[in-house]
Amino acid sequence: MYVTFSLNGSPVTLNDPPPTKTLLDWLREERALTGTKEGCNEGDCGACTVMVTDTLGAAPLNACILFLPQLHGKHVTTVEGLTAPDGTLHPVQTAMIEHHGSQCGFCTPGFVMSMATAHLNGDTDHDTALAGNLCRCTGYAPIIRAAIAAEGVDAPPYLPHPDLRFPPKTANAAATAPADHFHPENSDELAEIYTAHPEATLIAGATDVGLWVTKQLRDLGQVIFLSQCRDLGGVSKTPEGWRIGAMATIAQVERSLAPRFPSLGVMLRRYGSAQVRAAATLGGNIANGSPIGDGSPAMIALGATLHLRKGETRRSMPLEDFFVAYGKQDRQKGEFVEAITIPDQEDALYCYKLSKRFDQDISAVCGCLNLPVENDTFGAVRLAFGGMAGTPARATAAEAALSGQPVSQDTIETAMKALAVDFKPLTDMRASSGYRMEAAQNMLLRAYHTITGSQTNIHEVRA
Ligand SMILES: Cc1cc2nc3c(=O)[nH]c(=O)nc-3n(C[C@H](O)[C@H](O)[C@H](O)COP(=O)(O)OP(=O)(O)OC[C@H]3O[C@@H](n4cnc5c(N)ncnc54)[C@H](O)[C@@H]3O)c2cc1C
Ligand code: FES
Ligand code: FES
Repeated sequence: MYVTFSLNGSPVTLNDPPPTKTLLDWLREERALTGTKEGCNEGDCGACTVMVTDTLGAAPLNACILFLPQLHGKHVTTVEGLTAPDGTLHPVQTAMIEHHGSQCGFCTPGFVMSMATAHLNGDTDHDTALAGNLCRCTGYAPIIRAAIAAEGVDAPPYLPHPDLRFPPKTANAAATAPADHFHPENSDELAEIYTAHPEATLIAGATDVGLWVTKQLRDLGQVIFLSQCRDLGGVSKTPEGWRIGAMATIAQVERSLAPRFPSLGVMLRRYGSAQVRAAATLGGNIANGSPIGDGSPAMIALGATLHLRKGETRRSMPLEDFFVAYGKQDRQKGEFVEAITIPDQEDALYCYKLSKRFDQDISAVCGCLNLPVENDTFGAVRLAFGGMAGTPARATAAEAALSGQPVSQDTIETAMKALAVDFKPLTDMRASSGYRMEAAQNMLLRAYHTITGSQTNIHEVRA
């Protein structure tokens, strides 16, 4: 299987590279491009950030959890490719120097790659763009000042443009792939290959699977990369609602749904980091069955339907029914997530993500509360939580305590008590059982205060 991409403007063709070799290792070990640093090797620190451009645009990605086959047909820019061919620095590099944005310099290549990508995309929310880059010595204020200073300067013309269609596809990956890894070009090919190799590991954004390799040192055996299955991607608005392809990234979901559901947008901006959101897919987030994932509670609260496919057979189910028990989902061998659909509806969604750290942290409790109100009465309420059970789950007793009841503090307090019937949360390193229950109950109270017009957002401290 050939993997072709462009690296800092030059074409690269790799003949059958090890499928789980990371871009970071390849850059450093085989190309001596050591500007891209290894910090955590698990997607947390951003030292390995590179810019990857495809037809959807430029995105910052963590090279440490990005496998080479995922780059097929894309452009990769590393910090070595950020300067102009004549050595002129990129505007964010100049600004970092002028604003003293670097001390030991270890984090700096990752920072400038995130900054250059945000700069190219005209993104001026620097706190959000840089939440996935950690600096231990400079402090963030000079770095943010540098990012602001570069805002008004034009992006250099030599960076890859999404309209560029280079490099061409050189091979039909499915036809030429060796027996241990596959690269289907669409979902029909995927269905065929996965039916024939049901034990294979599917790889979507690799923000979970990448860590199985870099941290658990697992040999994955047969793998199937979904990155070329364009027909599994994208978010589309239909007359009935939205269809979210399994390969739609969290960043795409945020862009498409945040205008209708602003609270979902706020929560998704705290999902990992810009680098993680650009890679992680909603399909992967659901399929991994994590009880503390953020995507599933939000989708369940919105009444999502999950669409699965095995060979030519398709079936659908309410998303909450997919999660059978901790680590067990209703998915057969050879069956994959094709899409998620959510019905059109007015916005009544309140999403609360509670984690130890504001940015780039996994939820201790994630509560997504769909609380439609008409004539001061709650309509058909849907409440879904992560972190409260072995799976993402609905709070049916609390829902019953709210639906059809007047919007009042008494109603909310009854629902808060009912949550204790719905859940018996665990104590683990993220939170105790008691904390989780109280926090979830208080999410209901917070939503009530928001609905009745009180200011409940106390997150006012910004860099
Ligand atoms: C630094 C970091 C921060 C993170 N922060 C968050 C966070 O804030 N919130 C959160 O919820 N998660 C977070 N995660 C977890 C991770 O990003 C998500 O679970 C992610 O959505 C997984 O999607 P993926 O495309 O990367 O999946 P992959 O890693 O490619 O796959 C995950 C699993 O799903 C399977 N799979 C993938 N696609 C399909 C499909 N179409 N059909 C069937 N099976 C499939 C794979 O075989 C694998 O078992 C974080 C991860 C990292 C590394
Ligand atoms: S090395 Fe830390 S995110 Fe990649
Ligand atoms: S400059 Fe040293 S870690 Fe950021």
